[in-house]
Amino acid sequence: MDAYQSIISRRSIRSFSKDVPSKELVMKVVEAGRRAPSGMNTQLWHFTVVLSREKIREIGRFVLDSDSSICYEAPVFIMVSSKKDNPYAEEDTSCALTNMMQAAHALGLGSVWINAINKRDEKASSMTAFSVPSGYRVYGCLALGYAEGSVKERDLKPLSETVSFIE
Ligand SMILES: Cc1cc2nc3c(=O)[nH]c(=O)nc-3n(C[C@H](O)[C@H](O)[C@H](O)COP(=O)(O)O)c2cc1C
Repeated sequence: MDAYQSIISRRSIRSFSKDVPSKELVMKVVEAGRRAPSGMNTQLWHFTVVLSREKIREIGRFVLDSDSSICYEAPVFIMVSSKKDNPYAEEDTSCALTNMMQAAHALGLGSVWINAINKRDEKASSMTAFSVPSGYRVYGCLALGYAEGSVKERDLKPLSETVSFIE
C-alpha cells in the first residue's frame, strides 16, 4: 500500500480485538506523532502512552466518573498534551494525532481520536497523576489496537460541496 492509498483508506476504528500490539509497534506510531510538524518547530508536546488496561480504566474513572470504557476497550490509549501557553497547542497536537492515526493504519493497526478529555475541562490540565507533565493540558487522545470486524462505508460529502477551484 503506497502512502496515498494508506491516507485515503484510513478509517476510525471503534471495535478492537483482544490482541495487544507489541511495544515496538506502538513506539513506531508514537514516533510518527513526534515527527509531525509543529508551529515554529517548538515540539511543545508530550505523549503519554498507556499500555496497562488497569491504568486505562483508572483514567476513564477519573475523566468520565464512570466505569464505561474511555477508548472502546482498546488495549492502548495515548494522551497527547501540550504546554498550556503554547499558542499552537491545538494545531500541533492535531498534526501529531493525525500522523499517528495514519501511521497506525499503515502498520496494520486501527485507531480513533478520543475527545473524552475535553481541553476546556479543568481535568485536562490536572492529569499529572497519569504522567501528563505539570503545566501541560491534554488536547486529544488516541485509542489504538488491532481492528475487529468491518467498518461501514464512509459517508463523504460530495466534492462539489467541499472544494472550489479558481483557474
Ligand atoms: C477533533 C476530533 C474529535 C473526535 N472525537 C471522537 C470521539 O471522541 N469519539 C469517536 O468515536 N470518534 C471521534 N472522532 C472521529 C470522527 O468521528 C471520525 O473521524 C469521523 O466520523 C470520520 O470517520 P473516519 O475517521 O472513519 O473517516 C473525532 C475526530 C476528530 C477529528
